[in-house]
Amino acid sequence: MKPTDIKSLIDVLETQRNLSKADWVTLIRDHTPQDATYLFERARAIRKLYYGDAVYLRGLIEFTNYCRNDCYYCGIRGSNRKVSRYRLSEEQILQCCETGYQLGFRSFVLQGGEDPFFTEERIVSIVRSIRKNYPDCAITLSIGEKPFESYLAYYQAGADRYLLRHETANEEHYGKLHPSSLTLKNRKRCLQDLASIGYQVGTGFMVGSPYQTPENLAEDMLFIADLHPQMVGIGPFIPHCETPFANENSGTMDLTVFMIGVLRLTLPMSLIPATTALGTIHSFGREYGLLAGANVVMPNLSPVEVRKKYALYDNKICTGEEAAECRHCIEKRINRIGYKVVVNRGDPASSQFLVQGTGTTFCTKS
Ligand code: 5AD
Ligand code: FES
Repeated sequence: MKPTDIKSLIDVLETQRNLSKADWVTLIRDHTPQDATYLFERARAIRKLYYGDAVYLRGLIEFTNYCRNDCYYCGIRGSNRKVSRYRLSEEQILQCCETGYQLGFRSFVLQGGEDPFFTEERIVSIVRSIRKNYPDCAITLSIGEKPFESYLAYYQAGADRYLLRHETANEEHYGKLHPSSLTLKNRKRCLQDLASIGYQVGTGFMVGSPYQTPENLAEDMLFIADLHPQMVGIGPFIPHCETPFANENSGTMDLTVFMIGVLRLTLPMSLIPATTALGTIHSFGREYGLLAGANVVMPNLSPVEVRKKYALYDNKICTGEEAAECRHCIEKRINRIGYKVVVNRGDPASSQFLVQGTGTTFCTKS
């Protein structure tokens, strides 16, 4: 395709918010750096329309690295005997929230492996305590595949959001990344359950995971356009030395930020993080992510003693810094590229918040 044709695909995507599978493949496979520059301009314009210069912070609390699953890409997979396993107590988790609250966070993400110790009852108790102590904060869970009843119990205890990446929307590819105990069908069931309960749902995928093709990424985009999640987290695949994918190549920054750009055009109001993995493959990866249309950053609130133990991939950044250091580092980085940290729950934009001013349209949420 000629470059002008790729640009027109970007224009079609902006107006129609989706493409045919063949057009998705062409866009993802054949774009040039000039096309990417154009995409990022459009993505920034759209993001500005709904969110202005705001970047939302979510405080990430990695509360357990025990995992019963064995995903081939993941450093904390159950069969990695070299991981030093840890669990935070409810008190430690609440202490992380308190530190975060003092630093201005109003949104907490509790992420962990699928750890059987954290039964439905224990998670409910943790969520209830956070909800009681911090009624003005959003509580996000990211703890994997659970039965409908557990998702409902967490929601009733006060959780409002749930992150569960689909990883890849192609069955065959899913089978190359996971053991047979995990299925795309169940992943989709979980996402549907979460949405039906009323959670704000986040999904996402890795860019450049082993065996991934442009067709697979096209399928990811079709899946996301159809699911319409409120949040989408994507980051480059990065190998971990103690996994079956130790010798595979990382995903690239260029393709990851390109996918962030197309996500912004597909879901204009979505919350898209510039992920730690993106910051790991390039020292300004998160900045490039924000400049490609992302609007969330998730600094780490986990106690420094456990951070290195939550290694999903090699060379993860921010494992030596205190929460306050990350908080201030990230704010400086955000300001340097012309954006502003916003201290609130960071709910998704909705058209009711959009005000038609004199010539400008902006978001009025505080
Ligand atoms: N490289 C990049 N991302 C990874 N994740 C897990 N392992 C890796 C890796 N090696 C991502 C998965 C998961 C999220 C919590 O982290 O997409 O859903
Ligand atoms: Fe953690 Fe920069 S954000 S050190």
